Amino acid sequence: MKKILITGGAGFIGSHVVRLFVNKYPEYEIFNLDKLTYAGNLENLSDIDKKSNYHFLKADIVEAEVIHRLFEEHRFDGVIHLAAESHVDRSITNPMEFIFTNVVGTVNLLNAARSIWKDNLNDKRFYHISTDEVYGSLGNSGSFKETTPYNPHSPYSAAKASSDHFVRAYHDTFQLPTVISNCSNNYGPNQFPEKLIPLFINNIKNNKPLPVYGQGINVRDWLYVEDHAHAIDTIYHNGQIGETYNIGGNNEWKNIDLIKQLIEILDNKLGRPAGTSLALITYVTDRAGHDLRYAIDASKLKNELHWEPTVKFTEGFEKTVDWYLNNEKWLKNVTSGSYQDYYKKMYGL
Ligand code: NAD
Ligand code: DAU
Repeated sequence: MKKILITGGAGFIGSHVVRLFVNKYPEYEIFNLDKLTYAGNLENLSDIDKKSNYHFLKADIVEAEVIHRLFEEHRFDGVIHLAAESHVDRSITNPMEFIFTNVVGTVNLLNAARSIWKDNLNDKRFYHISTDEVYGSLGNSGSFKETTPYNPHSPYSAAKASSDHFVRAYHDTFQLPTVISNCSNNYGPNQFPEKLIPLFINNIKNNKPLPVYGQGINVRDWLYVEDHAHAIDTIYHNGQIGETYNIGGNNEWKNIDLIKQLIEILDNKLGRPAGTSLALITYVTDRAGHDLRYAIDASKLKNELHWEPTVKFTEGFEKTVDWYLNNEKWLKNVTSGSYQDYYKKMYGL
């Protein structure tokens, strides 16, 4: 029986990864370690949390001794590390939180794995989940390859870049069996409504202004979250030690076009005349250091490990909208309390 530690499993992507591993690998014991910050929500896992191969550990990766003790106690065979502060706007208002969790927290996990695995590295694996934002911003053409030099612009991406460097350094210096993937923007159920798609779904539903940064011309490459979880499964099991794999959706959208598409779907589902919610579009001051365009070249993952996205955007997008419309209680729970303060401070709208 293999013991796998998944950090950040109560968050958006982590919950989809935990679900996939718990259901697909009954022979593994899955440990979900999460601090349960504002972004962590155990409701995301209510369908699998009674399974006998699932365990929850409430802990903060910034606390080195606690993390070391958990490694000592449970003797994990592998780590899939997703826990992070993940929202770019919050990193602009509070960079230190990102340095603590994303950098110090990652190094604490590396140290614990190194110390517990030191006598036997066979079949061990430390898989670090990273982002395409570490590569910086593209012009109108080209795409990020695994060899693209790092050029982060936000405190979030700088902290993620730093954590990637530490993971590589622990591989090169201490032979820790590491692997890294850098993924593009995810969308799907359970994403916290601070990120573009769930925030705008919630606002359209409630007839609230849609705060479009700058001119809405920034481009992102969107991937359905379950496709990302399958890519993580593939890389965890078949990726080469010491390697990096880019993961992307091959699905670039200019923000304003994506928003208009969302409005079309929602006006239809909410029984409003077509185009009604276009009036909610409100152009606001641009995000500081806003990267213009991200695009991923995922050909290494396709050629070497045979992974490709399977969910068509039209299908995944509609599924996502339906999920938010059908899960009003989830949305209400996460948008009450501190979310209201965040929203007022961030948008004042
Ligand atoms: P999220 O914000 O939804 O979830 C993060 C989770 O980490 C939460 O459950 C939170 O409680 C937990 N966490 C935060 N600080 C912690 C700490 N100190 N100790 C323990 N747990 C802590 O994030 P997400 O969007 O699911 O992203 C997950 C990972 O994937 C991150 O590493 C992120 O950088 C990366 N990523 C995200 C995207 C995306 O589009 N969302 C794309 C590429 C890569
Ligand atoms: O590329 C991967 C990254 O994608 C992940 O590493 C991050 O964790 C994740 O948050 C995401 O970062 P982005 O900054 O691209 O996502 P966000 O949803 O915040 O914004 C998407 C685009 O929409 C971006 O160009 C900014 C814009 N935007 C966002 C918000 C929240 C707006 O115009 N208005 C908004 O209110």
